[in-house]
Amino acid sequence: MGVYVVTGSASGMGRAVVEKLRGAGHTVVGVDLRDAEIVADLSTPQGRRTAVDGVLAQVDGRLDGAVLAAGLGPTPGKERPRLIYEVNFRGVVELLDGWRAALADANEAKVVVFGSNSTTTTPMVPARAIRGLLSGDVEKALRAVRIFGKNSPAIAYAASKIAVSRWVRREAVTARWAGAGIRLNVLAPGAILTPLLEKQLSTPSEAKLINSFPVPIGGFGDPGRLADWVVFMLSDAASFLCGSVVFVDGGSDAYFRSDDWPKAVPLRRIVHYLKRFRGFDPTR
Ligand code: NAI
Repeated sequence: MGVYVVTGSASGMGRAVVEKLRGAGHTVVGVDLRDAEIVADLSTPQGRRTAVDGVLAQVDGRLDGAVLAAGLGPTPGKERPRLIYEVNFRGVVELLDGWRAALADANEAKVVVFGSNSTTTTPMVPARAIRGLLSGDVEKALRAVRIFGKNSPAIAYAASKIAVSRWVRREAVTARWAGAGIRLNVLAPGAILTPLLEKQLSTPSEAKLINSFPVPIGGFGDPGRLADWVVFMLSDAASFLCGSVVFVDGGSDAYFRSDDWPKAVPLRRIVHYLKRFRGFDPTR
């Protein structure tokens, strides 16, 4: 049986994952603002440190997997974009950096980060916001979304999920992660009926947008079913999965982006690879 950490363990999909893992006999350390083994506020550096250290103290130096489900949705508010960046981006990257050695200590540890299909279905997300987050400049990322006024939380939300998905894909293939035997992947849900979505649906203007959004198979997703995907992505069956973004969204991404991907790799990337590596060695 394995030892896992799940952030956002008190509600929605994180909670459903905890129930499934514990039901299968695994040990799970939950991290959340309340009702968790480690109570920590991931929107602050101190809270993130508490989460990193608190989990390491409970797992005896080894983690078989980590699920990063804590997240804030795009509800209105002037301070919301900053909180979204802190929790949805830094609350993933800093925690994973802190737990990396414990994950490397396990045999083929698996990490599942919650992205979102807002990454490919939200228009006009400024590249500067994504670059700002990836380069550690949150102020730049905040300036980039300010011009969107009351819509800035929705844009910041998509930016946070694009940045965290790109971070996973960049890091997944490196010596630090793939080379250390750790599989990093993203699960990108569509609209799933959890307290996060229920909160959005309670605001009439947001409800109108959500209900008119195209979902080819119709309706909302079920948190328990999404948790099944997470459990699968933590299992041996997923040992060849590395740096993937798995969309489970009823078809919305395919509806908007059917011809954008798969896309041939640009020649310059192949030339760069041939010059730099002369054969791929994941430990370099
Ligand atoms: P939820 O709101 O039911 O659960 C999120 C959990 O994160 C809560 O327990 C909350 O306390 C915790 N959290 C929030 N801020 C925190 C903080 N500062 N420190 C520690 N914990 C904090 O949400 P849900 O729907 O289960 O979402 C899980 C993940 O899936 C999130 O990352 C969300 O962005 C993502 N997602 C959700 C979708 C949906 O339709 N529900 C769609 C696409 C992505």
